[in-house]
Amino acid sequence: MTISRRRFLILGAVTATAFAMPPFISLKAYAATLEQPAMNKVTINVNGQPRALDVDTRTTLLDGLREHLQLTGTKKGCDHGQCGACTVIVDGRRINSCLTLAVMHEGSEVTTIEGLGMPDKLHPMQAAFIKHDGYQCGYCTPGQICSAVAVIKEIRDGIPSHVSESLTEAPQLIASEFQERMSGNICRCGAYSNIIEAITEVAEVPA
Ligand code: FES
Ligand code: FES
Repeated sequence: MTISRRRFLILGAVTATAFAMPPFISLKAYAATLEQPAMNKVTINVNGQPRALDVDTRTTLLDGLREHLQLTGTKKGCDHGQCGACTVIVDGRRINSCLTLAVMHEGSEVTTIEGLGMPDKLHPMQAAFIKHDGYQCGYCTPGQICSAVAVIKEIRDGIPSHVSESLTEAPQLIASEFQERMSGNICRCGAYSNIIEAITEVAEVPA
């Protein structure tokens, strides 16, 4: 007996499904189990306020901020850790919020661009970006500003970078350090030189 290619494919699909399904469960019930995401509660301190979330455990911190807390200042660029648009400050250090899960941050202190400053009370770094034209379209800007604030702290804390002359002496607040440390924040508009001017101005003010 010959068997058509179409019939062969159908038989193959049915057999594969039968083996993949747990025994004694209808196809409808099995599909229902696949649709249920694992949920988890987490409380994150965002911009000084405890915020309770009940999220699918696969939710990134970025999506938690934007989609659950409506803090849309933090931007999604690549969603792959390559552009820095999603940079926020977590427990004093900058991270790409697209590369970490919200449920991993129980009790963390998260600062987003909204927490740094608002139009009626700008953070000095925000004011310097405006003064030095450190942006054009502005899409990368929240991430750039959060990163820049953390960069100055890193240098003042004595953490060396790839371009620091010494691993034991305090690194300097200079343009080459800023350029190296800001290299993970991409600006498609190419506002880099103005961004460095803005960071330099803020760094010149003693802490
Ligand atoms: Fe996170 Fe690009 S959106 S690094
Ligand atoms: Fe447009 Fe940086 S200002 S991407």
